[in-house]
Amino acid sequence: MSDFQHAQLDWDEHGQPLSRGFGDVYFSRASGLEETRYVFLAHNELPLRFAALPAGGRLSVGETGFGTGLNFLCAWQLFERTAPADARLHFVSVERFPLTRADLQKALALWPELAPWADALLAQYVAVHPGFQRFVFAEGRVVLTLLVGDVLERLPELDARIDAWFLDGFAPAKNPEMWTPALFAELARLSAPGASLATFTSAGFVRRGLNAAGFAMQRVKGFGQKREMLAGRFEGTPQEAAKPWFARPPHPAGLREALVIGAGLAGCAAAASLAQRGWRVTLLERRDAVAEETSGNPQGVLYLKLSAHGTALSRLILAGFGFTRRLLQRLEPGRDWSPCGVLQLAFDAREAARQAELAAAFPADLLHGLGRAEAEELAGVALDSGGLFYPEAGWVHPPALCAHLAEHPNIRLLTHREVLDLRREDGQWCARSGETLLARAPVAVLCGGAEIARFPEAAGLPLKRIRGQISRLPATATSRDLQTVLCAEGYVAPPRDGEHTLGASFRFDSTELELTTEEHAENLQLLREISTNLAERLQLDRLDPAALDGRAGFRCTSPDYLPIAGPLADAAAFAEAYAVLGKDARQVPQRPCPWLEGLYVSSGHGSRGLLSAPLVGELLAAWLDDEPLPVPRAVAEACHPNRFGLRRLIRGK
Ligand SMILES: Cc1cc2nc3c(=O)[nH]c(=O)nc-3n(C[C@H](O)[C@H](O)[C@H](O)COP(=O)(O)OP(=O)(O)OC[C@H]3O[C@@H](n4cnc5c(N)ncnc54)[C@H](O)[C@@H]3O)c2cc1C
Ligand SMILES: C[S@@+](CC[C@H](N)C(=O)[O-])C[C@H]1O[C@@H](n2cnc3c(N)ncnc32)[C@H](O)[C@@H]1O
Repeated sequence: MSDFQHAQLDWDEHGQPLSRGFGDVYFSRASGLEETRYVFLAHNELPLRFAALPAGGRLSVGETGFGTGLNFLCAWQLFERTAPADARLHFVSVERFPLTRADLQKALALWPELAPWADALLAQYVAVHPGFQRFVFAEGRVVLTLLVGDVLERLPELDARIDAWFLDGFAPAKNPEMWTPALFAELARLSAPGASLATFTSAGFVRRGLNAAGFAMQRVKGFGQKREMLAGRFEGTPQEAAKPWFARPPHPAGLREALVIGAGLAGCAAAASLAQRGWRVTLLERRDAVAEETSGNPQGVLYLKLSAHGTALSRLILAGFGFTRRLLQRLEPGRDWSPCGVLQLAFDAREAARQAELAAAFPADLLHGLGRAEAEELAGVALDSGGLFYPEAGWVHPPALCAHLAEHPNIRLLTHREVLDLRREDGQWCARSGETLLARAPVAVLCGGAEIARFPEAAGLPLKRIRGQISRLPATATSRDLQTVLCAEGYVAPPRDGEHTLGASFRFDSTELELTTEEHAENLQLLREISTNLAERLQLDRLDPAALDGRAGFRCTSPDYLPIAGPLADAAAFAEAYAVLGKDARQVPQRPCPWLEGLYVSSGHGSRGLLSAPLVGELLAAWLDDEPLPVPRAVAEACHPNRFGLRRLIRGK
């Protein structure tokens, strides 16, 4: 069974939440707000530090125990009141037992003065599942990375530099498993030089443990009736560096300006993440608008192909699903997307076994099994089997998502601009079409799907194109009963604008984009396998595949099916610098990676760009701005472009 659990709460006579499992309160009965401000904000000197942030500056807060989010909201409120307008707050918090949305709402209703911030959190509090969950507030001024899981499992996955710690969590006597030397060592590993730390407890073993980990902790006057608490600073030495090929590249010199090539999901997302951080972005697209190529289908499905074994891909998908899903909250349901759920049918015994494994591994609010009768009732059409239902998933109109992402005052979209040549000149990437200079900037991000291979710097990346075609089926009076996306080998969505999208064929050897009758016929067959009843409602037997409308595109995939996301290195210099790995793969030569300064990539989004591309935008921005990574370090490395150069060296190919 999944070990995920929501917080189990009791409510006292004053309407305050208590943890049933830990037998402790979430905050002081007298005044949670004042206690937070005293213990965590004042003893990390946040009023002063927020006000002293330089223009465009950033402060990262780390917390153990997100609970009701009270500390986060108080920090955000203070930040908004005191920090310069273009400064940013990054808040990373770990929570093993997230509150349900209903409990969160009830708990936060206790603090009317926090209502604007609490409402913003509640509006985004969807798809909060195990792993890394990123939230963006106040147009990107405040970012929350919520690590869902046990602090001793999640913090070791984090790559961040924390400036101020809120060491919360229930009282050490009630939660001894958390307050351990292993936790203190993680706090030290993640601390920026001189990071501050405050905690409500004054327990001697906590003080000694933190001191032993490199913090200089002191007992100071506690809040209200409490005699003492602890506050101090990190005085230890910073953590050891990552392997040089996965290390953070040095900051690109020059202005915070970037050019992004390609305005599909990957490019629009990268542009949005940078623009929100104050970068001025030129988005270059060869077509006449965003989302004219692979990202142009009328409906795409939030299809979570998860693994019960915690693979990097599965963890990326879960984090990406949460991020995309929260982004969609900002779009218009019905027209731009629909949270109608996705039902993956258990169409054969093997699929049924796979689904049973997934149902055991993941929380029921993410996915759960349905018998045939329940599935039919939910779907609104007759089915041959039950399946696995993802209640928070649904369909998206990808062009609407792209347009939303690309609409930002810091983004200049230039269409009809095909970049034929990209060169570094005088510290800038210059994008040209023939003799014409299209744009120049210190940073360039390649987001053109498999087309990025035309640039010599990316030509060695192993990208494949797999053609796919969707068919558009006019809805009928009875097909409109379909209430959820249905997936088997193919997928069909409830109608948008009077049409169902039915997908999708796979062609591994085609380089053409003409629609083919053969693939329409194949798609119709996929639909019959999904539901003969729906096929009848759509009068499939009367449809002529040759007369159908549709769309074809190329999925761009990598050999391990993970996206390719991050900074690029010079392939030849890389092979030379780390040649010794060919003899002994365990060596870690301490030569800096020969980065191609300021050159980044987001590609290889395969069949699930809706889930991966938006979060990869955040990942690129985190690499570029030296921020906490939005995914576990191991997942970022699994997506890193250097993985291929490394494998080539180690395998001697
Ligand atoms: C049939 C089909 C069905 C799919 N269904 C789903 C689904 O249900 N769910 C899902 O999540 N995903 C689905 N996908 C995958 C998804 O569409 C892709 O992962 C996603 O669109 C990839 O986005 P991208 O930005 O990387 O590529 P693209 O959308 O192709 O964007 C690349 C852009 O770069 C531009 N460009 C390229 N080179 C240059 C240059 N030199 N100069 C200027 N511009 C350039 C192109 O014009 C293009 O606009 C499907 C794909 C296909 C083909
Ligand atoms: C006192 S509450 C935190 C209050 C919170 N900071 C707030 O602002 O509401 C303690 C929280 O720590 C969480 N917690 C306890 N042990 C944990 C662990 N080992 N890993 C992650 N979270 C844990 C609890 O589930 C609980 O939500």
